[in-house]
Amino acid sequence: MAETAQPVTMDTIVSLCRRRGFVFPSSEIYGGLGSTYDYGHYGVLTKNNIRSLWFRAMVQERDDIVALDSAIILNPRVWEASGHVAGFTDPLVDCRTCKLRFRADQLDLASCGRKPSKHPGETPDCDLTEPRQFNLMFETHVGALQDESSTAYLRPETAQGIFVNFKNVAQLARRKPPFGIAQVGKSFRNEITPGNFLFRLREFEQMEMEYFVPPPEADEWHRYWIEARRRWYLDLGLRDENLRVREHDADERSHYSLATSDLEYLYPIGWQELEGVANRGEYDLTQHTRESGTKLEWIDPDGTRYTPYVIEPAVSIDRIMLAFLCDAYDEEVVGDRERVVLRLHPRVAPVKAAILPLVPRDDGMAGRARALYEELRRYHQVEHDDSGQIGRRYRRQDEIGTPWAFTVDDQTLEDETVTVRDRDSLAQERLPIGGVREWLDDALQQDWSSPHSH
Ligand code: GAP
Repeated sequence: MAETAQPVTMDTIVSLCRRRGFVFPSSEIYGGLGSTYDYGHYGVLTKNNIRSLWFRAMVQERDDIVALDSAIILNPRVWEASGHVAGFTDPLVDCRTCKLRFRADQLDLASCGRKPSKHPGETPDCDLTEPRQFNLMFETHVGALQDESSTAYLRPETAQGIFVNFKNVAQLARRKPPFGIAQVGKSFRNEITPGNFLFRLREFEQMEMEYFVPPPEADEWHRYWIEARRRWYLDLGLRDENLRVREHDADERSHYSLATSDLEYLYPIGWQELEGVANRGEYDLTQHTRESGTKLEWIDPDGTRYTPYVIEPAVSIDRIMLAFLCDAYDEEVVGDRERVVLRLHPRVAPVKAAILPLVPRDDGMAGRARALYEELRRYHQVEHDDSGQIGRRYRRQDEIGTPWAFTVDDQTLEDETVTVRDRDSLAQERLPIGGVREWLDDALQQDWSSPHSH
């Protein structure tokens, strides 16, 4: 494998997503809108799985983290206090020749508008302006008046909705530091450099958890969350060799951060941030205390007061989905046929099993397959497919990453067994039809790792 990029290209992933209905360009019939995408059926199912696996690890299976769902449009003073109005900017350059706009700090990732395409600034025709700061927040207006007093913002991160609710939650949740508040929801950024599919979107779904800790424990909890989040990805089958932790240098940290480590994934565009784990110190609670006049602090039963430090693992479902898809994509030749297979962890896979009658026009097979499907769909996302040759039906399921297929065939009619076909090994075994549900429940509880793991 190459050291600097995935063997699978972004184009391959884009075309699979489109072909199989995971992701479509947004408002495509009107020519699309840069860096926004619509999720189709399998995309929605996969996103739901990622969201609920995250929620399970962060909230359901812990005593110390509670959930929140704050509004997307907050009082605009939130964003003044947080520093976003003044400082949530990217440096931008324009090219006077090709009229394109680029992030000044990422020219090496961009393509110039001239042919043959090079990085901006590299052709003799390139004529770049000096960098200027561009605020990434989308503005809107609240109420009927459209003047400065009604300006509001679509949130660029979910985190601030958590900080401004610190007091509400701390009073009611019967938790004391260390404790966390987790939130999942849409965030919006007017990103300058579109492209790279789901990696950098203007509208994306963030999953953030703010963990409030006594200041002397902050470093320890920071290390804890970096490792906990790394483990989460590995347990969900991401290959170790494609995931690494990179600590930010002092000059690349955000304005609020005392220390940040990124979990980086080896995307087709190279190593890039998948998730950030930051130590935000007391920055946010102090800022909101100062600007709102409401004290956001912790008071111990003995009367000791302090402002907790915040450790924040922050990621988007979209970036996780792209990493899982890239990691899972595989092509192989079986017999004399090529197959494309998504080797997704079964818990991430959009469909858990396919139920296939071998000969759909045979009433015995059709009836049993339909009954099995109707039983299983009460518990799991499963699919019934009775159109086309069996080989084609298997390949359709391979491409969307369905881990198992149950086939009802001639022998089923004799002994009430079905075959189960494993997506990865292609091994087939027979099971009593009455035991399929238990078998599937059990299979979904098992550990899984990619057959290509080192
Ligand atoms: N609250 C901290 C925060 O928002 P960030 O590093 O700007 O920090 C956190 O974003 C995570 O959100 C990133 O690691 C990435 O997973 C995701 N993210 C940020 N911008 C994104 C974008 N334009 N498109 C998709 N995901 C994005």
